[in-house]
Amino acid sequence: MRVAIIGQGYVGLTIAVGAASAGHSVVGFDVNESLVTKLNSGASHIEGISDGDLASFIDSGAYKASSDAALLDGSDVIVIAVPTPLDEGRNPDLSFVHAAADLIAMQVQSPALIVNESTSYPGTLRKEIAARITGVEHLFASSPERVDPGNTQWGTKNTPRIIGGLTPSAVTKAREFYESFCDSIVEVSSAEVAEAAKIFENTFRQVNIALVNEFAQISDALGISSREVIEAAATKPYGFMQFNPGPGVGGHCIPVDPSYLAYVAHEVGVPATFINRANEVNLAMPAYVVKRVVAGSGGTIAGKKVIVVGVSYKANVADTRETPAAAVIDLLREQGATVSWHDDLVGSWRGEESTPLGSFDIAVIVTKHAGVTDVAIKASTYVFDCTGTMPGAAGI
Ligand SMILES: NC(=O)c1ccc[n+]([C@@H]2O[C@H](COP(=O)([O-])OP(=O)(O)OC[C@H]3O[C@@H](n4cnc5c(N)ncnc54)[C@H](O)[C@@H]3O)[C@@H](O)[C@H]2O)c1
Repeated sequence: MRVAIIGQGYVGLTIAVGAASAGHSVVGFDVNESLVTKLNSGASHIEGISDGDLASFIDSGAYKASSDAALLDGSDVIVIAVPTPLDEGRNPDLSFVHAAADLIAMQVQSPALIVNESTSYPGTLRKEIAARITGVEHLFASSPERVDPGNTQWGTKNTPRIIGGLTPSAVTKAREFYESFCDSIVEVSSAEVAEAAKIFENTFRQVNIALVNEFAQISDALGISSREVIEAAATKPYGFMQFNPGPGVGGHCIPVDPSYLAYVAHEVGVPATFINRANEVNLAMPAYVVKRVVAGSGGTIAGKKVIVVGVSYKANVADTRETPAAAVIDLLREQGATVSWHDDLVGSWRGEESTPLGSFDIAVIVTKHAGVTDVAIKASTYVFDCTGTMPGAAGI
């Protein structure tokens, strides 16, 4: 099939490579021209795709990146994989989805299967995409992406793929496409069910992470280790799923997607009590971390040299979107500390560069990538660990 993918970020590039490896002819379309140039030179910007794999698909002609929207026309399949962030009021910002839909409406005259993989609330495919693309007999399906960057066990191929469509023929065509590079397809009765499944999955994680974060605070006040309690509880062979506490949630999904569900709940007049409370708890974790660091450092950190270890939102990825490290650093600075950070994967961030580990007054471990050693961290006088990986250190 001729496949065009709008958006060559984490999701779009992953699907592009999956489709190219199945023998499809893929154009990765992106408005970011420097990204397009980089991709065409064989340089991947995401962890799960090696430069070598990308270069071999380019050399064989199976893949090319482009910012020429004229190439969208004539595609059998067009996949939309663009950002779905929150606006300043923490409401859904569908401007990228609208722009992608408008681009298809303007550029594509020949009928295609149009699939939205961007995460959004139920009704997005029907009301925000298909309704903007009229005059051509396209097929429309929703297949929300479930990729977990950095996860080596579960990827595009072996993670079951949910498909819902606006018509049965859209589902059939989408199945034909995804079956070519995904092991297992889950057909659901509508696009709305597919869209809702994705945001419910991430809401489930957000609420459970908030629960363990609250529990960590209760445990600390009780003088017991939340992690030991959770490990003990996790020995129950049924009815319990382990989540671990941390400095908050980050990335493009867990801090964002539940607010899409809360938004649509509000629209239909149902209170999203759990989602809103979970947001509050998770967003308050950086302040809790800093409060504990101050308490553990004799009541003040003014003038102290602090290193924050790991600023991406999770281990072994370079993604700093929505990372709680930002708030941790800002709040430490508000307390008068001199704060630098160490993260070789991230390198430079917010106009600052990664600082080598060394002897600081305080080290706060937010994220611990492979290769960061306890010995290097222990060169600091006081260590506060948000990851539960440093035996004997204070932390959550
Ligand atoms: N990152 C993840 O782990 C993940 C997992 C599952 C689902 N998702 C969802 O997938 C969607 C995409 O996320 P991502 O992480 O790939 O985002 P990203 O920011 O990594 O990439 C998006 C790309 O889209 C491009 N873009 C924006 N507007 C465009 C337009 N009008 N035309 C062409 N290109 C455009 C941007 O330049 C960027 O390169 C979001 O809805 C996200 O919630 C992400």
